Amino acid sequence: MAKTLKVGVIGVGGIAGAHFPGWNESPIAEMVAFSDLDPAVLARRAKEQGVKKTYEKPEDLIADKSIDIVDICTPNMYHAPLAIAALGAGKHVICEKPLAPTPADIRKMIKARDKAKKLLMTAQHFRFQGSSQALKAEIDRGALGDIYHARGWMLRRSGAPTRPGFIQKKHSGGGPCIDIGVHILDLTLWMMGFPKPVTVSGVTKDVLAHKEGAFSNWGGPIPKEFDVEEFAAAFVRFETGATLILEVSWLLNHKSGPGEDMQMWLYGDKGGSHWPSNELLWTCNETRQHYNVQLQNAAQGAPHAKECMAFAEAVMNGGPSPVPAEQSLIVLGILDGLYRSAKAGAEVAPDL
Ligand SMILES: NC(=O)c1ccc[n+]([C@@H]2O[C@H](COP(=O)([O-])OP(=O)(O)OC[C@H]3O[C@@H](n4cnc5c(N)ncnc54)[C@H](O)[C@@H]3O)[C@@H](O)[C@H]2O)c1
Repeated sequence: MAKTLKVGVIGVGGIAGAHFPGWNESPIAEMVAFSDLDPAVLARRAKEQGVKKTYEKPEDLIADKSIDIVDICTPNMYHAPLAIAALGAGKHVICEKPLAPTPADIRKMIKARDKAKKLLMTAQHFRFQGSSQALKAEIDRGALGDIYHARGWMLRRSGAPTRPGFIQKKHSGGGPCIDIGVHILDLTLWMMGFPKPVTVSGVTKDVLAHKEGAFSNWGGPIPKEFDVEEFAAAFVRFETGATLILEVSWLLNHKSGPGEDMQMWLYGDKGGSHWPSNELLWTCNETRQHYNVQLQNAAQGAPHAKECMAFAEAVMNGGPSPVPAEQSLIVLGILDGLYRSAKAGAEVAPDL
């Protein structure tokens, strides 16, 4: 039986493949059209997924009146123009991270969303991982108390994606700061309840990428067109008095295992926590004991699929968006502040 909501996916290269199971599994949404500038990718994906309508030009998919939801999975620099066009054509939009490379772009997307009265969601899939949701539930019931400091990092050794969409600023808008910084920062801020950032002090580096023979385990030699940072770090102060330290890299001589080292530490006035191990830490002054408690029950399921299904449900229920653009504006306010601070060599206020 045909499902109620019709989905068109724009940019059916890499990550779109992780969205497809969500649309296929959803009881209310189904994929009906694909668009990609690369005709070979478009034909391969359409055949693989049994999708009949294909558009080489994304504007033709956006003009397709049968489509209710547009799922944007193109490189970062095309998110805002495509989302604004899709919202203008009366579609709901789910868009890969970062929602856009700058706060100014996100403000334009919010304006288009409000004018269209449609939903806009950033595909922050780590929020849909079982371990994240189990920890968030504990934090929301007060297990840590007020969180006054956080540390988050996502560090890879020889782990730069080498496709132009990531390593050329004209397509990506930036390097690991906005590519993976957006993941760990969004997750950390979500756990903290999105306090308002007031200052950012940041640094960026490109030390290893331009060395003779520099390589990535994920795609061979680092292309000479690599014109983004390879490392970024920041110290952030919030209106609440809380602080945060962020470190991200695609190329760092760090012990990161076969993939990447992604961790988040949260410190509150009642207790601390570590993710992804999902350990909660308390101290009892009366007994002089330390308690380390391991959360045991985390829901299973592929987080990318879960985020697509959650968006379809939100559209059916008339909102709210599971990952609102206002929260992505705060995330990009900090990451854009990191870049501006690195350039200025001084602390800056986020552009919110
Ligand atoms: N959430 C995650 O875990 C995750 C992982 C990887 C990538 N991403 C994000 O997904 C996006 C795409 O990354 P990817 O790895 O899939 O890249 P990719 O290069 O594998 O695929 C992108 C596809 O978009 C197509 N494309 C480019 N510009 C287009 C346009 N204007 N209209 C239509 N098609 C266009 C390309 O031909 C390509 O097939 C990026 O924003 C990236 O940050 C998210």
